[in-house]
This record gives sequence, structure tokens and C-alpha cells, in this order.
Amino acid sequence: MDNRPIGVFDSGIGGLTVLKEIMEQLPGEDVIYFGDTARIPYGTRSKETVTKYSFQCIKFLLSKKIKAIVIACNTASAIALEEAQKNFDIPIIGVITPGANKAALVTKNKRIGVIGTTGTINSEAYQMRIRRIDKSSQVIGIACPLFVQIVEDGWEDSDVAKLTAEKYLMELKEHDIDTLVLGCTHYPILRYTLSKVMGDKVNLVNPAFETAKVTKEILKEKGLLSDKLDKPKYKYYVSDAPEKFRRIGGNILGKDIETIEKVSIENL
Ligand code: DGL
Repeated sequence: MDNRPIGVFDSGIGGLTVLKEIMEQLPGEDVIYFGDTARIPYGTRSKETVTKYSFQCIKFLLSKKIKAIVIACNTASAIALEEAQKNFDIPIIGVITPGANKAALVTKNKRIGVIGTTGTINSEAYQMRIRRIDKSSQVIGIACPLFVQIVEDGWEDSDVAKLTAEKYLMELKEHDIDTLVLGCTHYPILRYTLSKVMGDKVNLVNPAFETAKVTKEILKEKGLLSDKLDKPKYKYYVSDAPEKFRRIGGNILGKDIETIEKVSIENL
């Protein structure tokens, strides 16, 4: 048993979709969340930059005495997870493998769509992982960068969201996919719009949910689950704009964000 907190990081508020699943599936765990709000987006940046930023986030969390790290950001998981696992001696869990495994499991016609940031799609991390499980799968990746801003502006159920989704997803509809991976932290918030556009025969895979499940399995396997009985503690750090984080983040979590602190990541 290990009662130290889990560290979670993302490029900003989007990773709260992963934290929300962790809160539900691991209700006994304390969590320290770091949102790199000063440097969002990661999705348009180079491999070198995403890796550098991710390593800084990891070092920051390590300074908080955590027992494991969840990289909630799809772009950072796609680009920096393997390097990070090689460089840090602590369990580090990303969102790609849990999401890809689920997609490979639920597809029937073996035609799978993946949507994410430009960085995630260009890295081919989801595509390669799914094809590694079943070589005969056809995986079509589409970058949908505008979705992040639509969600951050609270427009997830608007006509703008629907029109944007119709345009981005047209190609996936033509490929007759039966499974769609929501490969970006923000996309689970758009799931009703995405489901309306794709139709109810398409399974939507939420890597945030799958990652919380895998995190629980890994902590259990390594004897790192907490046995505390008191209310879990959640502490938030951001690199910029704590008030915006509090407002939008509270909506994503469906609960108030109480303890939040601004840190300067450059000092690490
Ligand atoms: N958190 C990022 C992801 O899941 C989306 C926002 C960004 O581009 O940083 O890929």
C-alpha cells in the first residue's frame, strides 16, 4: 500500500477529463495535477519541444513526492512517453495504449478512425499501436485542431461544433468506420456532437476512461494503491491563468477547484 498522491499532467485544462475518470475509478487516491497553461497548445509543437516540456512537467511532479505519473495529454503521451519511461524511475502511464487497445477490442469491421491534435496524428502513435494488435486493421487518423478552442469556449453543443465536426469527420464517414478514438483530452466533452455526426452505430472510445482503468490495474499490480479512508485530496498547479483554469476546469470536473497555485515552470 502506498498513500502518496498520483501525479497527473497535461498541457492545460483538458487533462481534467482524465482526472475526472481517475476521481471516479480511484476514489481513494490523492492527486496532484499540473496544467501547463502557459505553454498550451502542445499539439502544434515539435517533438523536441513537447519532450522538453513533458520532462519539465514530470520533474515538477516528482518534486511533489508522487508515486506514479499519468500523462493525461494525448500529444505528450504520443511523443514523449517512451523517452520519459526510459529516463525516470517511476511508473509513467500514457493515454495512447489504453485507448488503442480498447479500439482494437471493440471494432468489428476493423475500420477505425482516430482524431486528435496535429502532433498526435502525425506521430502515428495510435495508428501504429492499433495495427500492432491487428495488422489487418485500417486506421484513419484526422487532425481536428479547432475542437480544442471550441471546447475551451464552452461551445461543445453549438452549431459551430456540429458544422466543424461534419467537415472534419466527412472522410471518416466515407471510410465506413465503426469505431472512433477520441484521441485528445478535450474531445470527450464533444462526444454528444461527435456521436450525432457519426451516427449511433459508431463506437466512441474514450482514452480518458480507459487510462483510469489501466492506472488502477497498474497501481494494484505494483502494490501502490492507497488504503486511506479519509476524503481524497486534490491539489492543482498551473503555469498561468489560475482563475481561467478554476472556471473552465470546474465545469469539466463538475466540482469546485479549491486549492490551486501558479508556478513558474522555467525555474525547474
Ligand atoms: N491536451 C492536448 C492533447 O490531448 C490538447 C491541447 C494541446 O494541444 O495542448 O493532445
